[in-house]
Formats: sequence, structure tokens, C-alpha cells
Amino acid sequence: MVELDHVNKWFGDLHVLQDINLSIKQGEVVVVIGPSGSGKSTLCRAINRLETINDGHISLDGQPLPEEGKQLAQLRAEVGMVFQSFNLFAHKTILENVTLGPIRVRKQKKEDAERRAKELLDRVGVGQQANKYPAQLSGGQQQRVAIARALAMDPKVMLFDEPTSALDPEMIKEVLDVMVDLAERGMTMVVVTHEMGFARTAANRVVFMAEGQIVEENTPEEFFTNPQSDRAKDFLGKILKH
Ligand SMILES: Nc1ncnc2c1ncn2[C@@H]1O[C@H](COP(=O)(O)OP(=O)(O)O)[C@@H](O)[C@H]1O
Ligand SMILES: [Mg+2]
Repeated sequence: MVELDHVNKWFGDLHVLQDINLSIKQGEVVVVIGPSGSGKSTLCRAINRLETINDGHISLDGQPLPEEGKQLAQLRAEVGMVFQSFNLFAHKTILENVTLGPIRVRKQKKEDAERRAKELLDRVGVGQQANKYPAQLSGGQQQRVAIARALAMDPKVMLFDEPTSALDPEMIKEVLDVMVDLAERGMTMVVVTHEMGFARTAANRVVFMAEGQIVEENTPEEFFTNPQSDRAKDFLGKILKH
């Protein structure tokens, strides 16, 4: 579903993605883990074409990522992205936040988009909040709305970039539960997270990145209990102490 083939990217002198090769099958859930600054967000942004790459190829569902214009908007509709900050439109209701993309980009009729939005909001547990504004919701609720908004576009892949790291601890689980449900329904997912519980429950594979490289790839169980590289051992030593 997603193929990265010898992908390289520089920010000036910084070689932020170094010969990345990664192949993600339909329905696969891949957790990307690694120290801050290792290129995890850049990798997600490259898959969504929010960042250009300098070298190599990325394809989605067999098609190379488009450069610009209408096809690029189409690609963005097919790759759902959920960030650390929820990025909801403050002056639109929850329902409007979720229907905006389907109406504008997918050209759905308002009533169809609203029906589907309500289903999705119910599914992520915030159906009662549809007519409220983002500021009236908790962080965990807003992040679940952000997930519903991405799903409303019927994406082929969902990218999550540290979706729970801005949340208070008691709200992390409600967001992870929605993500686990999505994984169980067969969504293809790339998830940057340090939540080991999620990785163990939902991921097929853990990809460990450090300094722009994929250093190690393994099943969650193997990765967490038996990391191979010194960098992975060092990293896990640090996050496990917390
Ligand atoms: N737009 C940018 N311009 C210059 N450097 C950047 C930019 N975005 C990220 N970087 C740098 O690239 C490296 C990788 O960043 P990032 O992909 O955000 O890492 P991670 O998500 O793993 O913390 C960092 O050193 C960061 O400072
Ligand atoms: Mg990041």
C-alpha cells in the first residue's frame, strides 16, 4: 500500500532521511519509534507529500506521489493524518469540522456528509458533541474528532504522528482505544508513538529510527524484549525508566 524506495531528504546540510526503504502492506499497522529528531515526523510528512524528498521514490497503492495540483489534493484525501496538535477549525462546530473535507474535496452532498460524520463521531465516542466548538471539548475528545475527520475522507492509509503526546494521561487511553479499534477493522496505519501498550496490542511491526536511518525492524514483542542494536537498547533503556 505504501512503498518507500531509497528515499533521501536533506534540510540544508542535515541528511534527515537516509536511504529509507519501507514497504507497508494493506491492513498492516507499523509503529515508528525513535529518539526526538530522528526524522519520524519528516517521514510521515513525506508520505503525505507535505515535504518533498530529494531522492528516491514513494508510492501509494501502486501510484507514485503526485507533484502538485488537483492530484495532490486527491492524494491528501487518501492519506489521513493525525498530528500531536489537533488542528481543528476553532470557529467551526465539531460536525462542520468533519464534513468540510468530504463536501469540498470529495464533493459529497451536505446531508450525506453529515450522516456519515455523525456515524464516525458516534464510533469515536463523541457523537453527543457534534454541535459544540472545539474549545468546549477536552483534548482527548478533540483528538478523537481529528481521527473522525480524517476517516470521513475514506483514506487508504492513516498516519498518526505522536497523537497522544500532548494529552493528559487520563485521556491517552480513550484515543488509543479508538486507534486499536481502527487497526482491528483493517486500516493500514503508520503510527509514530512511544506507547508500548499500543504497539504490543495493535502493531504488526515496529520500525526503530535513529539519526535519519531505519536501524531496526521487528515484531513488537521481539523489539521490546530483545532489541538488537546498541541504539535501540539505549533508547528503550531511557523510555522504560519512566
Ligand atoms: N522544516 C525544517 N527545516 C529544517 N530542519 C528541519 C525541519 N523539520 C525538521 N527539521 C530537522 O530535521 C530533524 C528531524 O526532525 P523530525 O522529522 O521532526 O524528527 P522527529 O519527528 O523524529 O522528532 C531534526 O533535526 C529537525 O530539527
Ligand atoms: Mg516528530
